[in-house]
Amino acid sequence: MNINECINLNASYKLIAGGIIDFTNNCGEQQIEQGLIRSKEVTAAMIAYGYQNKLGFAEGHYNTISKYIAFRFAKDEKIKVLDVGCGPGRVLYDNAGHFNNGEFIGIDSSLVSLIVANSMLRSDKKITVDLSNRSLPPVSLEPKNLSNVSLGIGDACGLPFKDNVFDCVINSYLIDRVSDPFKQLQESIRVLKPNGMFIFSSPLNFKENAIWSGYSAEQICRIMSAQKIVVKEMHDGMVWRKPFDNRGNYIDWKTLFIMGFKQ
Ligand SMILES: C[S@@+](CC[C@H](N)C(=O)[O-])C[C@H]1O[C@@H](n2cnc3c(N)ncnc32)[C@H](O)[C@@H]1O
Repeated sequence: MNINECINLNASYKLIAGGIIDFTNNCGEQQIEQGLIRSKEVTAAMIAYGYQNKLGFAEGHYNTISKYIAFRFAKDEKIKVLDVGCGPGRVLYDNAGHFNNGEFIGIDSSLVSLIVANSMLRSDKKITVDLSNRSLPPVSLEPKNLSNVSLGIGDACGLPFKDNVFDCVINSYLIDRVSDPFKQLQESIRVLKPNGMFIFSSPLNFKENAIWSGYSAEQICRIMSAQKIVVKEMHDGMVWRKPFDNRGNYIDWKTLFIMGFKQ
């Protein structure tokens, strides 16, 4: 897939680890050298796909994202979709195959997640994932062998893309993981075209104490409005249940969901 027309002219990049685009001046390779690719992390990441095997209750979350995309765009449209903080690629896995003329890009700061995403999205064989370290049953997925997806290692707070290039930008469970949520939102909206669709979800469970006070659901809506997003839908309370093990231990994430369009 050719994503060159979206990439900022001054952004430098190269291909690593099976075609992943590294926008970070070797940060991806450093992650490999530092041994950050651990099987335990890969297993944890795969739980996003485990929901398809009913190992948790996040299907409402992922299906809502897919429905917004399917309602907004015709199947043959040449849409450009960016999933920021794509992690192991579940949103891309669910949606890219429905839009053969579309181009989907996933950006994440973690190479381990992108390597997992690469193997899930590009496989042409049935995929079985071992979750036995949590005593959970294995996950089996149909191969999709998607040729219209690109993956890049990069920073959500400084996206390597031009202004106004994507028809749809997704922030699924991202904002509470970043160190500068305002910048992250600003960047996602900057690269969205006017009339483009912005899909946002988060449990607002911020990593850094100082951030909690500025980012309630209402404050996030206000920040989006100031950045020219007209909020069309907002739900605060969708439950994402994350399984920990086969005994029934779990954690419930109370999820804020917002969908809007850029003016
Ligand atoms: C909870 S996961 C969500 C994954 C995926 N969006 C989903 O909903 O299944 C959060 C992801 O955000 C990524 N992330 C955290 N900080 C980031 C940053 N500054 N830039 C890009 N990705 C980031 C993490 O590496 C992780 O893959």
